[in-house]
Amino acid sequence: MKHLLLIPLLAATLPCIIGDATQLVYDTDGHELISNSSYYVLPVERGVGGGLTKSYQWRRCNFLVLQMRNEAKVGMAVRIEPLNASISDPVAVHLSTNVKISFDVITVCAEPMYWHVSDLPPFSTSQPRQFIAVGKDEGAEMPSPPSPDMLFRIERNNGAMKGYKLVSCIGTEPCKYLGLHAFKKENWLTT
Ligand SMILES: *[C@@H]1O[C@H](CO)[C@@H](O)[C@H](O)[C@H]1NC(C)=O
Ligand SMILES: *[C@@H]1O[C@H](CO)[C@@H](O)[C@H](O)[C@H]1NC(C)=O
Repeated sequence: MKHLLLIPLLAATLPCIIGDATQLVYDTDGHELISNSSYYVLPVERGVGGGLTKSYQWRRCNFLVLQMRNEAKVGMAVRIEPLNASISDPVAVHLSTNVKISFDVITVCAEPMYWHVSDLPPFSTSQPRQFIAVGKDEGAEMPSPPSPDMLFRIERNNGAMKGYKLVSCIGTEPCKYLGLHAFKKENWLTT
C-alpha cells in the first residue's frame, strides 16, 4: 500500500514553527501516517520536479538524497517511524515528534537506508549546507538509540501551500527546515 505525502520542499531559512505534538500527520488521501506503511515524499508545487530518491554513492553504502527531475516520477518510498514504533506495535505519526526516516528499499548494504544529516559535504558549495545522506559506511553500525543526526520532525506548513515540512533539530542548534538546493545540475536535499 503506497500513499503520497506532500511536502513543500522549499529553501527556507525561516525560524521554525513548532507544531502541536498531539496532532497527527495525514497523507494525501486523508489517512493518518502510520509506521508500518510507506510513503512518497513529493513537492506540493507542480512543475518543480518529482519525488525523492537516493543517488550519488559517495562512499560505499552511503548515498545522498536528491529529487527526481521528471515530475512524473514519484521516487523511492520512505518509512517514517516514531521512536516508540515497533514491527509488532505500529503507531501513528504525530507532528513535531522525532521520527526516523528510511528508504523502503532492499540493498546489498548491511544497514538499512536510514536518513541522516551529514557533516561531510561531498561538494564545495557557496553557502554552508548539510546534505541529507542515507545508509552508513560498510562496517559502521547503526547507532541505537538513534543519534540526533538521524532524527527528523514533520511540521505543518501554514502558508498558502498546504503540506508539511521536514525539520532537523540537533542538540542546542536551532531547528532547520530541509529543502532542495541545486548543485551540479541536480536538486539535493539539504538543511
Ligand atoms: C498497520 O498496522 C495496523 C494495526 O496493526 C493494521 O491495521 C494495518 O493494516 C497495517 N498496515 C499495513 C500497511 O501493514
Ligand atoms: C507512542 O507515542 C505517542 C506520542 O508520541 C503516543 O500517542 C502513543 O500512544 C505511543 N504508542 C505506543 C505504542 O507506545
